[in-house]
Amino acid sequence: MTEIIINTEKSAGTINRNIYGHFSEHLGRCVYGGLFVEGGSDIPNTRGMRNDVVSALKNIKIPVLRWPGGCFADEYHWKNGVGKNRSKMVNTHWGGVVEDNSFGTHEFMELCSQLGCEPYVCGNVGSGTVREMSEWVEYITFGGISPMADLRKENGREEPWKLKYLGIGNENWACGGNMRAEYYSDEYRRYQTYCRNYGDNKLYKIACGSGTEDYSWTETLMERCAPFMDGLSIHYYTVPGEWSKKGCATVFDADQYYTTIKKAVNIAEIIDAHLKVMDKYDPEHKVDMVIDEWGTWFDVEEGTNPGFLYQQNTMRDAIVAAVSLDIFNARCSRISMANIAQIVNVLQSVILTDGGKMVLTPTYHVYDLYKRHHDAECLYHSIENVSIGGLPQFSATASRKDGELTLTVSNASLNESSDMSVSVPGLNVKNASGRILTNEARAHNTFDAPDTVKITPLAVKAEASIISFTLPPCSVAEIVII
Ligand code: AHR
Repeated sequence: MTEIIINTEKSAGTINRNIYGHFSEHLGRCVYGGLFVEGGSDIPNTRGMRNDVVSALKNIKIPVLRWPGGCFADEYHWKNGVGKNRSKMVNTHWGGVVEDNSFGTHEFMELCSQLGCEPYVCGNVGSGTVREMSEWVEYITFGGISPMADLRKENGREEPWKLKYLGIGNENWACGGNMRAEYYSDEYRRYQTYCRNYGDNKLYKIACGSGTEDYSWTETLMERCAPFMDGLSIHYYTVPGEWSKKGCATVFDADQYYTTIKKAVNIAEIIDAHLKVMDKYDPEHKVDMVIDEWGTWFDVEEGTNPGFLYQQNTMRDAIVAAVSLDIFNARCSRISMANIAQIVNVLQSVILTDGGKMVLTPTYHVYDLYKRHHDAECLYHSIENVSIGGLPQFSATASRKDGELTLTVSNASLNESSDMSVSVPGLNVKNASGRILTNEARAHNTFDAPDTVKITPLAVKAEASIISFTLPPCSVAEIVII
C-alpha cells in the first residue's frame, strides 16, 4: 500500500495554465500539413486550419502557442509572410525544403484565435534587425495610423491583434547567431527597447536563456538584463543516448526506459540551479522562468527526412510528460510557462498526422488528464515513495480549483502495481472518480490502431477522507475529489 497525503492547508502557488503550453515551428510537417493545409486541400479545414487538429487541441485547452521557431525564428523575415505576394525561401535548418511563406502572421493569429490560446511570437535576432522586430510588433499591435498599421490594414486586417508574449531570439548561443552571453545581453537590451507597448497592449518580454547546464549564460543575462525582461527561458531535451545516437522512439529495453525517465527527472536539478542564479540578481522574483522548449528527442522514424524530426510517441513519453509537468507544477511560483516541443509531427508531439489522418499520442492523453490543474492552486502532498535505482517510482501533483481537488499520479515502474491510499485530512469526501492511461511502455498509437493507448475509467473507492485505487505499472491517473 502506498500512502499519499494531500495537505489542503499548504499551497505552493497557482499553476499558471501556460505551463501546459505548446510550440509550433516551421519544421517538417508541424505547421504545413500538421496544423495548416494549403488552399484547395480536401482535408476539412477552416481558413486553412485543420478542423480535426484544432478540435483535438481545444479539448486539452491549449493555453499558449509559441511560433515560428526555434532555430527557424532567427532566419524568419516576417514581411515575406504577409500580403498577397509572398516570397519563397529555403528552410536551411530543417530539411532544406522550400518555405513558401503561405503561413505567416495573419495565419498564426487566425490559428490562435480558433484555438482560443495566447500567441507567443519569437522574433529574429540572429539574422534580423532591430527595425524588423520593432516593426513586427507595430504591425501586430498598433491601432493608430503608421506605416506598419497601414500595411496590416492593406493586408486585410483592420484591428490590431493582442500580443503579450514576445521572445527576443532563440538559442542565440547556437543556431540563433553563435553569440557570447555578453554580446547577446547587449543585443537583448537594444532589441527589447524598440519593442513598444501600443495602446493597452503590454508585452511580456522573454530573453533567450541557456541550453540545459550553462549557468554562466543565466548569470550574465540576469546580471546585465534583469530589469529589462519579464521571463528568461531555458531549454531541456530528454535524450536517452548521445546526440549522435539518441535511441529509438519505440524499440527500447528496460534500461533505456529507466534511463529516459531519470534524464527527464533531471530537469528538476537543472531548473533549481538556474533559479538559484536568478535569485541572486532578482531576490524579489520579478523575472519568471519560461521553459519554452522541452520534451523527448529520439532518432527520427526510419524512412523520414532526418531534418523533419518526426518520431513516434509511446507510454514512455507519457511518463516523461507526467513527471516533467509535476516538476513544473511544484515550482509554479517561479515557472510562468513551459512549451513542449513540438505540437504536431515533431519530437514529443501530442498529435501525429498522415495526410487526412490524425492520431492522438499518449502524451496528448497526459495533457487531457492534467487539464484540471490549469490555473489551480497547487497543494503540497507527500508520497511514501519507493526508489527504482534512484528514480522515484511515483510522481504526483495535487491541486484545488472551484472547491474540487485533483490528484494526478504516475507509476514509472515497468512491473510493479501498487494499491494507493490517498488521505485528505479534514476533508469529508463526498465523491471521487478516476481516469487512467496505462499500457506497456512501448505501446503507441498508429494510424491503423489509433486507440491502443487511451484513457479509460479507473475504479476509485472513497470512505470518509480516504480514497483508494490500484495504480498499474507504467500508468498515469487522474483522481477528482469532491
Ligand atoms: O525543437 C527543435 C529545435 O531544438 C529548435 O528549433 C531549437 O530551438 C532547439 O535546438
